[in-house]
Amino acid sequence: MPPLPTNYWSCPDHSVALHAGADHYLCRQFGHRFPIVEGIPCFANFEALTDIQRSELKHREREVRYEGDRRVQYERRIEREAVVGRLRLTAADRVLDAGCGVGRITRALLTSPAEVVAVDFSHARLAELRRAVAPTMRLTLATADVTRLPFASGAFSAIVHTQVLEHIPTAAARVAMLRSFRRMLRPGGTLCLTVYNFSEPWRLRGDAKEGRHETGVFYHCYRADELRHEIEVQAQLKVEELCGVINLFPHTFRAFPWLGPLARRIDHWGERHPALSQKWGHLLLARATR
Ligand SMILES: C[S@@+](CC[C@H](N)C(=O)[O-])C[C@H]1O[C@@H](n2cnc3c(N)ncnc32)[C@H](O)[C@@H]1O
Repeated sequence: MPPLPTNYWSCPDHSVALHAGADHYLCRQFGHRFPIVEGIPCFANFEALTDIQRSELKHREREVRYEGDRRVQYERRIEREAVVGRLRLTAADRVLDAGCGVGRITRALLTSPAEVVAVDFSHARLAELRRAVAPTMRLTLATADVTRLPFASGAFSAIVHTQVLEHIPTAAARVAMLRSFRRMLRPGGTLCLTVYNFSEPWRLRGDAKEGRHETGVFYHCYRADELRHEIEVQAQLKVEELCGVINLFPHTFRAFPWLGPLARRIDHWGERHPALSQKWGHLLLARATR
C-alpha cells in the first residue's frame, strides 16, 4: 500500500475522501473504484483524454529510456539544480512532482529528507522511476491526469511541475490546473515550475509559439508576462521569481556543455538577472507561493 496517508487522497471527480481497500481506492459516496495496478494506484480516466493527449501518452510510453546527448544532459542538470535548489526541503515537507515522467526531478527531490509524491499519466514511466530508485517509504507513486488530481486540499507544502504545463492542450485546462495546484498547497506553500520560453532563440529560428513537435506532442511556448498573468491573476498565487533557465546567451550555447562548472556558474548567474534570462533562457522558471 502506498505510504501517503489515506486522508490526503481525494476522489478526482467528487473531491471526497477515498477509502483504501486491498487492491483499490474507493469513492464511497459515488461508488467509483480506482484500481492499484502493479502496486501503483491508477486514477487516470484514459477514455476522457483528448486525441492530442492520447498521442502524447503513446509517445511518452515509447520514450521511457531516452538518455540524450551531452547537451541534453547538461540542460537537464541546469534545470534540476535550478528547481531543487530553490525548494530547501526539510523532513516536515511533502512535495508533489506533477507530471514526473521517469523521475529526473523526483530522484533529486528524494535526496532531501522530504516526503515525495510523484504522478504521471504514463504507468510505464512510473514503473521505470520505481525501478531506478532504492525502495523508500518516502515515495508515493500514482498514475493520474495532472488536470484531475486525486489529492485533498492543503496536502502539499510544495509542488514541482517541470516542462508539463506547456503540453496541456488548452489555455482553459492550464489555468484550471494551476488553480487546483493552489488548492492542494498549504498556505505559504511553494509552486516551482518550468515551461518552454518563447525566447529570442526560438523566435530567431522562426519556430511557432504553439504547435506539435515531430513526435506529435503538443506544445505552447510562454512569454514571461503571459506566464505571470496565468499564475498570479488567474490562479491567485504570488509570483516570487520569474527568470530564464538554460541560458543560451549568444555564442555560448555550443560551448556550455563542454566548459564544466564555469559554464554552470554563468548559466545560473543568468537566473539572477531576469531581464536578460527571460530573453535568452530556453525555459522560464516561476516560483510562486500560496
Ligand atoms: C517533458 S516530460 C517532463 C517530465 C518531468 N517533469 C521532467 O522534467 O523530467 C512531460 C511529462 O508530462 C507527462 N504528462 C503530460 N500530460 C500529462 C497529463 N495530462 N497528466 C499526467 N501527466 C502528463 C508526460 O507523460 C511526461 O512524462
